[in-house]
Amino acid sequence: MVEKKEDRLFDVKSFTPMVKQYFSIKEKHKDKLLLFRLGDFYELFGDDAYEASRVLNIVLTSRNDLPMCGFPAHASQSYIYKLVKNGYKVAICEQLEDPSVAKGIVKRGVVQIITPGTITDDDALETKVNNFLMVIHSFEDFLFAVFGDISTGEVLVEKVKLSREISKLSDEEVYSLKKDLRELIVKYQPSEVLISSQLLENSIIFSLLSEFKNITITSYPEWFFSKDECIRIFDKHISKGIVVEHSLDEMDKVIIGALIRYFVETQLTDDIAISSISFIDNRKYMEIDEFSIKNLELVANLLDGSKKYTLIDVLDNTITPMGGRLLRKMVLNPSIDVNEINLRLSKTEYFVRNYSKLSEVRKILSEIADIERISNRVFFKKVYPKDLVNLKNSLKSFKNLVEILKDYIVMFGFSVPEEVYNVLGIIDNTIEDNPPNTFDEGGVIKKGVNKELDELREIKNNVELYIEKIQERERNRTGIQSLKVGYNKVMGFYIEVSKPNLHLVPSDYERKQTLVNAERFITQELKEVEYKFLYASDRIVVLEKEIFSYVLSEISKYYRYLKEVSNIISDIDVFSNFGLLAVENDYCKPEVDESDEFIVEMGRHPIVEKYLPKGEFVPNNTYMNNKDSRIIILTGPNMAGKSTYLRQNALIAIMAHIGSFVPAKFCKIGVIDKIFTRIGASDYLALGQSTFLVEMIEVANILKNSTPRSLIVMDEVGRGTSTYDGI
Ligand SMILES: Nc1ncnc2c1ncn2[C@@H]1O[C@H](COP(=O)(O)OP(=O)(O)OP(=O)(O)O)[C@@H](O)[C@H]1O
Ligand SMILES: [Mg+2]
Repeated sequence: MVEKKEDRLFDVKSFTPMVKQYFSIKEKHKDKLLLFRLGDFYELFGDDAYEASRVLNIVLTSRNDLPMCGFPAHASQSYIYKLVKNGYKVAICEQLEDPSVAKGIVKRGVVQIITPGTITDDDALETKVNNFLMVIHSFEDFLFAVFGDISTGEVLVEKVKLSREISKLSDEEVYSLKKDLRELIVKYQPSEVLISSQLLENSIIFSLLSEFKNITITSYPEWFFSKDECIRIFDKHISKGIVVEHSLDEMDKVIIGALIRYFVETQLTDDIAISSISFIDNRKYMEIDEFSIKNLELVANLLDGSKKYTLIDVLDNTITPMGGRLLRKMVLNPSIDVNEINLRLSKTEYFVRNYSKLSEVRKILSEIADIERISNRVFFKKVYPKDLVNLKNSLKSFKNLVEILKDYIVMFGFSVPEEVYNVLGIIDNTIEDNPPNTFDEGGVIKKGVNKELDELREIKNNVELYIEKIQERERNRTGIQSLKVGYNKVMGFYIEVSKPNLHLVPSDYERKQTLVNAERFITQELKEVEYKFLYASDRIVVLEKEIFSYVLSEISKYYRYLKEVSNIISDIDVFSNFGLLAVENDYCKPEVDESDEFIVEMGRHPIVEKYLPKGEFVPNNTYMNNKDSRIIILTGPNMAGKSTYLRQNALIAIMAHIGSFVPAKFCKIGVIDKIFTRIGASDYLALGQSTFLVEMIEVANILKNSTPRSLIVMDEVGRGTSTYDGI
């Protein structure tokens, strides 16, 4: 979504002070939709109102020629996320003081900014997919692409060395740079890109980003990426508990600092949690180019882009959100390290052998919440009391999981950080087991945590008893049996007497309110009770919030342990899932080594097989090596299953490198470093290239980049020309 738009001009002079206040705040948030709190509503004005009414399909009205629209604050979540999902950035402007006590116009200010790449609320996030913000920045002859997920704290860094400055690259270098970046974007699917306005003007970057219509672009002038400031921010935030894979150089820190800076600016808090920084290192993963990710339908199908009929759909029966996210990363980044692959295969094998444990393991997993995201929200204090109870229960379940899988934990070198169970204690000691969602009514913090809180609650309870006593006494004193002592939020306490009994009202009653059939009164005594009651209620809310915030900062100290636990859970989830798949679908354990062979006996296509009645899929064999059997040329009638067979082999290879068992009777694969596919033809006719030209460019690219360990799959290359030239 690269676009520039002109601001429409409104005549500011003629506006009321409130609208002037609006425009002065809007001035600082020109690139966002400003939600302006007016009583129980959020209102949008001017151009924002046009956009929002169109996207949300709500009525556009106008006041003094100023267009406006709005929605109720209590139902705002769904409206806000709809705007964000549509690529808008939203600034939420609240009333910062109580309108009933404010002198003049109520003070207002922006309290939160929500952009597609900085969402923290669980309800608005897809559970099994990371939500990445991508930062693109160039520095001398390096181009950086950094991905950060604020909801989980992960940061991934990719550094591309260019032969010279980005503006001076040759055509061929431009092609390969764009290809690399495109591959990253397709893989990590960032919802937002942060970039300097200068780099955005570069034609390579601009045309690349224009290809991705649903990515929101946020650009800042060069100062946002200034070295000193970004390093200062980096150092300030990257302190405790973070796992860094490699040592970072100064430039890495600047870019990550810029990423954190943007998180700080949108969350409006300094408590940003980063749990890991790692380099996207192509030498560790199988290279699957952008076409293959699409054509092999690894995570999205070609039909409608959904998950249905994809490899991940077949492979993913994970139960926890963390497990789902790990699996997705593994599918897009199969390992090429033989030891790592075999370690993974042994984990899968463990669960195949211990099939009897599976149902219990998976039952426990189903009791575990998204503790990875919860612990991040704890860190920046955007968490509900219920989240903490979920965290507590998840840790209890984790304890059981560890008990059942003791041998697995030891065998595969995990160590459970015992410290994490302190979190369980902290929550159990302080937070009610079934807390309300808000602090308005109290009842979040357990009894016995804070003396003052307990006393205040006592006062509140006593008031209620006392009121009953007063009612009894006044009935006797006045002889009015229908006399009632009541309470409501607006009026406070009152004594209600029905119209026919008014002549019995004693002289110390003060009239407070007249109803149709009754009058309400107040007495000096009631006023005192009311004061106590209101004081206690208000003070309870304040105290509970304070205690809650303290609890959060205590839990934050265990952030790194919570991350470790979350990693263990996602590992167990993914591999118990592979174990289950292997048993249910009759997969075999592939042998993966350094040889140059590719042997599949009785192989099946994992996706096609799923949609056929059991046993209907006809298995096929494959044998290839790097000496006398390097190429298979496959011909046959239409509908013979050629395309299926080609894809099936690529998918089996990928599954083996992920660490899953494979749909075959026997399988032996020498590590494959890259997979290339050329399936069908995607036309770039609009870009002035013919089908044939595109194919030749791509085939040339494959030939140039493939190694003796690469698997190349070509289906109907050259069909765009005459039959004599086709393969
Ligand atoms: N081994 C198999 N067992 C059972 N059904 C299969 C098998 N392979 C393919 N099919 C089914 O047969 C149909 C045709 O398969 P496919 O598209 O692979 O054929 P093809 O040889 O590539 O045809 P074309 O020459 O038209 O491209 C598909 O619907 C697929 O589901
Ligand atoms: Mg075909």
